[in-house]
Amino acid sequence: MAVRDIIVIPDPVLKQVSEPVAAITDDVRALADDMFDTMYDAPGIGLAAVQIGQLTRMVVVDCAKDDNPPDPICLINPQIVWASEEISKYEEGCLSIPEIYETVSRPAEVKVRYLNRDGDEQERHCDGLLATCIQHEIDHLNGVLFIDHISRLKRDRIVKKFAKAAKLAKAGE
Ligand code: NI
Repeated sequence: MAVRDIIVIPDPVLKQVSEPVAAITDDVRALADDMFDTMYDAPGIGLAAVQIGQLTRMVVVDCAKDDNPPDPICLINPQIVWASEEISKYEEGCLSIPEIYETVSRPAEVKVRYLNRDGDEQERHCDGLLATCIQHEIDHLNGVLFIDHISRLKRDRIVKKFAKAAKLAKAGE
């Protein structure tokens, strides 16, 4: 188990589509462990494998409130199979876009189908923060970031800021 480096924008890997997991192997379970370690260390409430450079359709989340016990969920090959018409708005952030928060509208409730780390098919009805978080993480598997849901003007401003910082960091190496 290990805390891995989190990739930030504008790294192009974040725009790539991840590949389905063909079989739940020890490597897949080890990746899940690293993803949980990395997410809790950050700290964050969700992480997709692509954010640590693995183009694999895997997501970990834990949306338990501060005073509740942890609720770690590992979702392999997750699919939204139903979404409510009702929309909710949350101020979202992302470990790959540090310190940026913007309001995003998404379906308020979703049903997600996935394999757990034992390879069992699961279905879970999600609402509240968990529904938003899971949709945000599944977006990552399709190369979509939360800033792709906001106005182009705001998005361009954010991407430009991170591109500039990356350039400066490279120049300083
Ligand atoms: Ni994210």
